[in-house]
Amino acid sequence: MTVQRIPIIIDTDPGIDDAVAIGVALHHEELEVKLISTVAGNVDVDKTTNNALKLVQFFDKFTPVARGASKPLCTEYEDSSRIHGESGMDGYEFPEAKAAIHQEHAVNAIRQLLMNSEEKVTLVPIGPLTNIALLLSLYPECYFRIERIVLMGGSANGGNHTQTAEYNIFADPEAAKIVFSSGLDVTMVGLDVTSKATLTPDNVIAIRDQNETGKMMYSLFQHYRGGSLKTGLKMHDLCAIAYLVKPELFTTKKCFVDVETAGAYTRGTTIVDQKNRYQQPPNTTVCLDIDVEAFRMWAVKCLAAAR
Ligand code: BDR
Ligand code: CA
Repeated sequence: MTVQRIPIIIDTDPGIDDAVAIGVALHHEELEVKLISTVAGNVDVDKTTNNALKLVQFFDKFTPVARGASKPLCTEYEDSSRIHGESGMDGYEFPEAKAAIHQEHAVNAIRQLLMNSEEKVTLVPIGPLTNIALLLSLYPECYFRIERIVLMGGSANGGNHTQTAEYNIFADPEAAKIVFSSGLDVTMVGLDVTSKATLTPDNVIAIRDQNETGKMMYSLFQHYRGGSLKTGLKMHDLCAIAYLVKPELFTTKKCFVDVETAGAYTRGTTIVDQKNRYQQPPNTTVCLDIDVEAFRMWAVKCLAAAR
């Protein structure tokens, strides 16, 4: 039986948990990764692009990689390499990437792909939302070519970059505001949920022993500061991929979500109006919980399909 594959574009800032998400997506039989677009985030855009190219090459795929925004819409770029290491993927010696980068800027590459695609395409942003906001602002004709947006970012409860703000949204709040208020079908897989989605020490060993991909990821995991090897590694970005193919793992609610862009302490915070206090129509499907055990089993199994 042929499986109907969901066409997706991953917009990313690899990033060690991004690398895991990309690895799973590239090997999942229900997904067709049409393009990987990169953005400045965990590390600068030259590094995130180079990392994406290295991953595609490691996995022996031909997925195009397009370089995107080098800075947020309204502020200067700040590096966040403390979580993922200097290169963004410290810990493994990838051969230098030979694959050619897409000739177009990521925003134009996404537009081209959307406008030329016979079916609508799902956007999966797992980094700051700069490219997606630029796309929606510059090329409104693309709205009708987007199936939906499933993003990792924000939180219904507490942040990691500040007390209240999650990193991907904090990194470009103005861009995030454009995405949440776009009127598109948006799903938010936020930090309060993805922080529960850890790989345990046993999962990490199982992954290492499965194949070459497991060994590569095991090396990256030694340098990943999203959680710890003892208490569990947080697979934030992989949750967005899980939502695409296994939505039953998540508890969700449709809520009004907006982004704080002005607060002295709260800039980059997602306001998730679970009790409809602001009397606004819901604009986002918000993930509120995850079946952690089932997620872990799914993640280990998916990575077994890689080389
Ligand atoms: C998000 O920030 C990055 O460090 C991760 O890759 C993930 O996308 C979690 O807040
Ligand atoms: Ca990321």
